Amino acid sequence: MPIQTTSKIWHNGNLIPWEDATLHVMSHVIHYGSSVFEGIRCYGQPHGSAVFRLPEHMQRLLDSAKIYRMDLPFTLEELCAGVVDVIEANGVTPCYIRPIALRGYGEIGVSPKGSPVEVYIANFPWGKYIAGHGGADVCISSWNRLAPNTLPALAKAGANYMNSQLIRMEAETNGYEEGIALDVNGLVSEGSGENVFIVRNGVLYTPPLANSALSGITRDSVLTIARHLGLAITEQALPRELLYIADEVFFTGTAAEVSPIRSIDRIVIGDGKPGEITRSIADEFFGIANGLKPDRFGWLTPVKVTAAEPVTV
Ligand SMILES: Cc1ncc(COP(=O)(O)O)c(C=O)c1O
Repeated sequence: MPIQTTSKIWHNGNLIPWEDATLHVMSHVIHYGSSVFEGIRCYGQPHGSAVFRLPEHMQRLLDSAKIYRMDLPFTLEELCAGVVDVIEANGVTPCYIRPIALRGYGEIGVSPKGSPVEVYIANFPWGKYIAGHGGADVCISSWNRLAPNTLPALAKAGANYMNSQLIRMEAETNGYEEGIALDVNGLVSEGSGENVFIVRNGVLYTPPLANSALSGITRDSVLTIARHLGLAITEQALPRELLYIADEVFFTGTAAEVSPIRSIDRIVIGDGKPGEITRSIADEFFGIANGLKPDRFGWLTPVKVTAAEPVTV
C-alpha cells in the first residue's frame, strides 16, 4: 500500500514539511544499513486518541542505538514529546508512527563515527498489516533468523530487515501472507515482522528472546494480558512441528497487532478459525487500545486529535 503522506515530520527537534525530509544518496545509512527505528500505533478512542506504549517503544529505540554505539542527542522524554508533537501537528489518527535514528552524510568508510546521527519521526495512516479473513495462511520460511552474535536481534535495526525481506518475499511469492522463520538451530523464532504465539491444551507458549526474536512490545502486552486473564504461560524453545499440532497460533506486533493464523504450510491449525484464547487476548488488547476497556496497565499516552472514524462504546 503506498504511504499516505501527512504534513510534517519531526527532525532533530523541529517540525519540517514532509517533502523536505530527504537524505543525500551518500549518507552512511544508505550504504551500510546504519539505522535503528521503531513502529508505534496511535489508536482512535471515544474521546480523542492515544499512543500505545509510547515510552516502551522509545526506550527500545534508545536500547537499539546503544547496542550500535549511536549516541542519540535526545532523552526518552524528548523523544516521547516529539511523537506527541508530530501527531498533534498532523492531526491524523488512527496512525502508525515511524521514529528512525540514522547515520547521515559525513564519511564513506564503514566506521560510522564520522557521520552525524539524525533522528526523524513521521506518522501516517496505516491499516491492517496481516491480511486474511478469519486468519492468515503462512509458511515456514526456508530462511533462518539472524544467528546469535552476527546481527543483534534485540536491536531493531534497519539492517535486520534484509533478512525479514527475504522471509516476506518468499512467503508472498509462494502464495502465503507471511513466513515464520526458525533460528539457526531449527527452533521457532518469529515472523518477518511479528512475534509468534502457540496455544496447546490451554497453555500459551512463545519462544524466548534467545531464539533470535525481537523483544516485541506487543509480545510483552500479550504476556501481561494473559497473566491478567489467569492463563498458564510458558516461554520456551519450540520445535517447528509443535506449530502444526497447536490448537491456536497467532502473530503479535505493532503493525500486525494480534493476528490469528489459520494454516501453516497448508496444515490447518485447530479447526481453522480464530481460537477462544486468541480471541479473548485480542478482545482485551483492542479494548484497551481503543479506550473501550480500562487502561489497567498504564499503556496509553493521550494525544489531542479526534479520530477519523468515531470509536463507540
Ligand atoms: C522482527 C520483528 N519481530 C517482532 C516484532 C513485533 O514487535 P512489536 O510488538 O514491538 O511491534 C516486530 C515489529 O516491530 C519485528 O519487526
